[in-house]
Amino acid sequence: MKQLLEHIRTDALAAFSAAGDAQALDALRVKYLGKKGELTALLKQMGRLSPEERPVMGQLANQVREALASALERRQRDLEAQALTARLTSEAVDVTIPGRPAVLGHRHPMYIALDEIKDIFVSMGFQVVDGPEVELAEYNFDKLNAEEGHPSRDWSDTFYFDTDSRVMLRSQTSPMQVRSMEVMPLPIRIIAPGRVYRKDEVDATHSPMFHQVEGMVIDKNVTMADLKGTLNLLAEQLFGKGTVTRFRPHHFPFTEPSCEMDVQCHKCGGAGCPTCKGEGWIELLGAGMIHPNVLRMAGIDPEIWSGWAFGMGLERTAMRRFKIADLRLIFENDMRFLEQF
Ligand code: PHE
Repeated sequence: MKQLLEHIRTDALAAFSAAGDAQALDALRVKYLGKKGELTALLKQMGRLSPEERPVMGQLANQVREALASALERRQRDLEAQALTARLTSEAVDVTIPGRPAVLGHRHPMYIALDEIKDIFVSMGFQVVDGPEVELAEYNFDKLNAEEGHPSRDWSDTFYFDTDSRVMLRSQTSPMQVRSMEVMPLPIRIIAPGRVYRKDEVDATHSPMFHQVEGMVIDKNVTMADLKGTLNLLAEQLFGKGTVTRFRPHHFPFTEPSCEMDVQCHKCGGAGCPTCKGEGWIELLGAGMIHPNVLRMAGIDPEIWSGWAFGMGLERTAMRRFKIADLRLIFENDMRFLEQF
């Protein structure tokens, strides 16, 4: 019996210190000290011993049990400490590793073009103003001399919010002419950039949402020569010295006379190519002398004041400015495209 007890002690102690983790150690606890463990099994046989042997063996058995229990506890603590150290090492943050560089974005090419346009006009004393995209037909049409029945008011061209066609997504930035006339003291020089909406299918040159920059001057003795001079200056500053422009007669309800300005195609230099649809020219803006009716409706006396206005397509301007062939590239946000500017 004594030998058996000693044997269990040596065995168990060796096994405890060899246990690699808490789970293995717990299995050993069950094996040696559990209810069905080796030590318990041995103690059950104590009854067979002689009365002299019993207390001696009992004492020894207790010593072995205590030795095993305390060795078990020590090993448990060691394993916990080891596990903690391992975790601390594996989860340690190396603060000396260089950081990942932050990817810096930049302005969208269309907004680069817009900022250039703003700079050009601000340097000529224009103010930049902003207006609502959800607009009243009163401002988008009525006060711009486009009365009921005008083709541009048609449901097939315009996004209306109501059945009587009074509230709409603005189809042009021209309502900002009227809004400025109504609140600003004369003389006025403004540009008004922003989004406009028309029921157009998406293709290489069209989108149901696009941007315009409206421009307007109202002063005394303003003439068409001022309009042409200013717009030619704009074209040269934006597209480079020697940029060729042309003015064609056109019609708008709110200007008289009216015109459109084209710039010579950057791709073919005027010979005609797919980018300019064989025309040699790219239409950039509509313009004209503000119609006396428009001035009168805004409470401005056309006998004293005169003015001009223009509305330019911003996407087209950016396309000409950066030699972009397809309008859709401007809205698709493909990084391979955007990173080129
Ligand atoms: N609003 C016109 C358009 O969208 C452009 C324009 C603006 C024409 C100002 C004349 C004067 O086509």
